[in-house]
Amino acid sequence: MDATTEAAKLPMYGIRDVAAPVHSPRRRLMRFVLAALLSVAVVQYLRFFSHSLDLDSHPVASVPLRAQEYLDKCHLLTVKPGPPPDFHTRTQSDRFVPGTPPTLITNATIWTGRDNGLEVVYGDLLLHGGIIRRVGHLQQSQLDDYADLARIDAQGRWVSPGIVDLHSHIGVDASPALRGTSDDNSRKGPVQPTSLVLPGSANAIGGQGIVIKLRRPTDKSPTGMLLENPYETNRTLYDPAVAFRYRQMKHACGENPRRIYGFTRMDIAWGFREAYEKARKIKQSQDEYCAKAVRGEWAGLGEFPEDLQWEALVDVLRGRVKVQNHCYETIDLDDMVRLTNEFKFSIAAFHHAHETYLVPETLKAAYGHPPAVALFATNARYKRESYRGSEFAPRILADNGLHVIMKSDHPVLNSRFLLYEAQQAYYYGLPHNVALAAVTTTPARVMGQDHRIGYVSEGYDADIVLWDSHPLALGATPQQVWIDGIPQIEKPYTAKKPQSFQKLPKTPNFDKEANETLQHDGLPPLEPTRTTFDTVVFLNVSAVYLRQEQSIREAFVADAADPLSAGVVVVRGGKIECMGSAATSACASATEGGRENTQLINLEGGAIAPGLVTVGSPLGLEEITAEESTVDGYVLDPLAGNVPAIVGGTGMVIRAADGLQFGTRNALYAYRYGVTTGVVAPQGSGFLAGLSTAFSTAAAHKLEDGALVQEVGGLHVSIHPRGKPSVSTQIAALRELLLGGGTGELKHWVNKIREGEVPLVVEVESADIIASLISLKVEVEQRLCHPIQMTLLGATEAHILAEELGQADVGVIISPTRPFPEEWEKRRINPGPPLSETNAIAVLQAHNVTVGVGVVEAWMARNTRLDIAWAALESGGQIEKADALALASTNVEKLLGFKTDGLQGDLVATLGGDLLDFSSKVVGVISRRRGLVDVF
Ligand SMILES: *[C@@H]1O[C@H](CO)[C@@H](O)[C@H](O)[C@H]1NC(C)=O
Ligand SMILES: *[C@@H]1O[C@H](CO)[C@@H](O)[C@H](O)[C@H]1NC(C)=O
Ligand SMILES: *[C@@H]1O[C@H](CO)[C@@H](O)[C@H](O)[C@H]1NC(C)=O
Ligand SMILES: *[C@@H]1O[C@H](CO)[C@@H](O)[C@H](O)[C@H]1NC(C)=O
Ligand SMILES: *[C@@H]1O[C@H](CO)[C@@H](O)[C@H](O)[C@H]1NC(C)=O
Repeated sequence: MDATTEAAKLPMYGIRDVAAPVHSPRRRLMRFVLAALLSVAVVQYLRFFSHSLDLDSHPVASVPLRAQEYLDKCHLLTVKPGPPPDFHTRTQSDRFVPGTPPTLITNATIWTGRDNGLEVVYGDLLLHGGIIRRVGHLQQSQLDDYADLARIDAQGRWVSPGIVDLHSHIGVDASPALRGTSDDNSRKGPVQPTSLVLPGSANAIGGQGIVIKLRRPTDKSPTGMLLENPYETNRTLYDPAVAFRYRQMKHACGENPRRIYGFTRMDIAWGFREAYEKARKIKQSQDEYCAKAVRGEWAGLGEFPEDLQWEALVDVLRGRVKVQNHCYETIDLDDMVRLTNEFKFSIAAFHHAHETYLVPETLKAAYGHPPAVALFATNARYKRESYRGSEFAPRILADNGLHVIMKSDHPVLNSRFLLYEAQQAYYYGLPHNVALAAVTTTPARVMGQDHRIGYVSEGYDADIVLWDSHPLALGATPQQVWIDGIPQIEKPYTAKKPQSFQKLPKTPNFDKEANETLQHDGLPPLEPTRTTFDTVVFLNVSAVYLRQEQSIREAFVADAADPLSAGVVVVRGGKIECMGSAATSACASATEGGRENTQLINLEGGAIAPGLVTVGSPLGLEEITAEESTVDGYVLDPLAGNVPAIVGGTGMVIRAADGLQFGTRNALYAYRYGVTTGVVAPQGSGFLAGLSTAFSTAAAHKLEDGALVQEVGGLHVSIHPRGKPSVSTQIAALRELLLGGGTGELKHWVNKIREGEVPLVVEVESADIIASLISLKVEVEQRLCHPIQMTLLGATEAHILAEELGQADVGVIISPTRPFPEEWEKRRINPGPPLSETNAIAVLQAHNVTVGVGVVEAWMARNTRLDIAWAALESGGQIEKADALALASTNVEKLLGFKTDGLQGDLVATLGGDLLDFSSKVVGVISRRRGLVDVF
């Protein structure tokens, strides 16, 4: 959208037609106030006039014709933001849709958000007129007045206010993305006071933001989604002279505005100062103008001073705009804080803000109040500014008394799962009440909307969510969501989780890690420590899972009811010597005290399970995604015809093993959270990527023992709609190769595929392309008279062809596990509960397709255990623990051509639960391959 045309539609507070007909009592009140003001002015005017009659030389014309309008504007400048005084006595929301029946939710466990997020009300909740009318125990007599009452029995389950996302580009970045749908960043200059809703961070001042409710409005208009319409329309009666609605504005510092405009930090700071100085001058001249105007001293005053380009920034200086500031690094935070003090305005929140936890005192020095901090939980290291990003930032900031918010930056993270960010922050030490507030009450307050959303409180029109578990339990899923009293899920989801999920999950203690993070300015050493003991004995083990052939089996399980049945596992030289119940097994003697050179580790009911394998991201080929000098880079594409002869021309095959980097922070984080092996293919720029490799995420370099698990796995190609060459050309190239074409190295490796020795791994999303690949496989196999191995990676739309994939024996690696339709080729997602009965993984498995899972960005590898645990929860029991572990270990290896001997695989020991339990913590890795035990 063109920013100039958009500017013409923006509101100009105070510019309105005073002669317009009276619409409402509120409007009438305003006219009374104006009349009172005006009467002062009129008296002055008459006095002046009579004076001028005395002195004929005085020019009567010095009273501007639009004096009344200017006085009106002057009055508007002084109105403080906030709800109108009668807001909390309303009985119907301005967003109410006539015909919506009242709804009673009974027997709910209600997290209200009040009392610092500690209040829980057991009882009922009545929605009527688009607002929350009652919270607590309701008598039948209180309900008699409500005809057509819709009743929902919550069966004791949790109810919370709707999730509030402080940072989203939903509605300006379309999904799937198409040319002509990306309206997030204006390219018209670094300072854009008037632009689009929810702007991006390419500009220092990117434009104004807007708060929307995510219900499809009855009028199908974007305006119908606005929570508080800043315009007076014939649908919303808004009088800014009575109560001014908070406005939102985006600011950004650091890399993004630097990158887009080629500016330095000095230039950006100057850009801000120049803009604020301009706004300050306008504000000052308005104030001076109005001081005189209300006294009737019109002589020489002229027109009311204003400028549409700067009016929103002037409102920032008047404290009427919530400044939402994308800002990461200590240097930039410090710059912004100085700016607030120079120009005397407040910042509502620093967003992304990966280094705020290192400088809480800087934030406290900001003008007015310390900015809140809006964060991702574990998404970091995508660019230098986020290199020091820490999972402990939320708790450290909260410990310093700062307000913490978890945000999505949708579509960077899928805002549908924003609650997961709060769950992770809680896991890493943010108190539970603060964690839930971080996605409800705190963002509501920081955007100036806590008079109506963020709380389950009478008179509020917060959205209401009925969850299938405690909201901080992994995989918490809405059974139903009410927006403006209207249920949003057509077929309410039925909870299938164990009763234990209704309780607040326990979390491990990370005090030591959080301290170390601060001691090392955000870059604590992550390298594992190898135990110095010959023997390590794990005690109080609840279960042991082991690889067996190409699957996972439960090799030991303790009887939960019998404490004496807890297990013992004795490890020597990275190898399990014996295991069994402490009371009965042969290795029980290992637990006796006094044995030499033996380390005892009490797992407190934890477990031992195979180390996980990650695939799909550039993990192992990059350190900081956006920094070229830290990444392996992209391979040339033979289909584009630009491969030099020195690398083999069109016969070129690149090996990821040649570009491996060890000791990257993402790899070490992955290791600490149970992902001991990485599989990575060369990063393709087109059709052909090259040969994948499997490596240890803990090794220091490639030549270390066990660092390279297997040098070559499968041959990776990728088929996507790219415009040029066409999809059909890409399929034709694959056909040509598989039917015996190709030259050089490429021919050599394709022959291995033709012989069934090496899998062909196709990175693909679209069901149409997948269908062509299935046909191609059949065609090739008919020609060869024996099967070849084909694996799909990514495969967002594979569930549509589950049956055909099963029949054709094509394996699938679903990556990521929770799909999002960013591109057209991924638009037909299987969304998972509550929008579908189960997920794509379960659908494919039901058709006997071998399924593995992957991630798309390197930082995501660390969360693999949560991805598979969540996928299993979504399957409603179809995917059991051992199967879930196989999704990210043996299945991935099998599908990608890694022939790891079960005995060679790493094992991971977890404290307080198994690897899939949200409450567990990895405390050790047993590596037979590397002949050692690492302890954390
Ligand atoms: C509320 O739900 C719980 C869990 O289903 C149940 O045990 C309890 O009896 C219910 N209470 C009422 C008042 O219905
Ligand atoms: C809004 O406008 C429509 C026609 O555009 C009119 O019929 C209706 O009465 C108006 N409503 C109000 C409240 O003014
Ligand atoms: C972490 O640091 C704080 C403050 O320096 C200290 O009081 C606390 O004991 C430390 N905790 C751990 C587990 O190291
Ligand atoms: C074993 O772990 C459980 C927690 O699951 C704990 O209650 C128990 O005290 C532990 N037993 C021993 C002997 O450490
Ligand atoms: C999957 O395999 C099982 C066991 O081989 C078989 O019984 C079942 O019919 C298969 N299901 C489908 C959908 O092919």
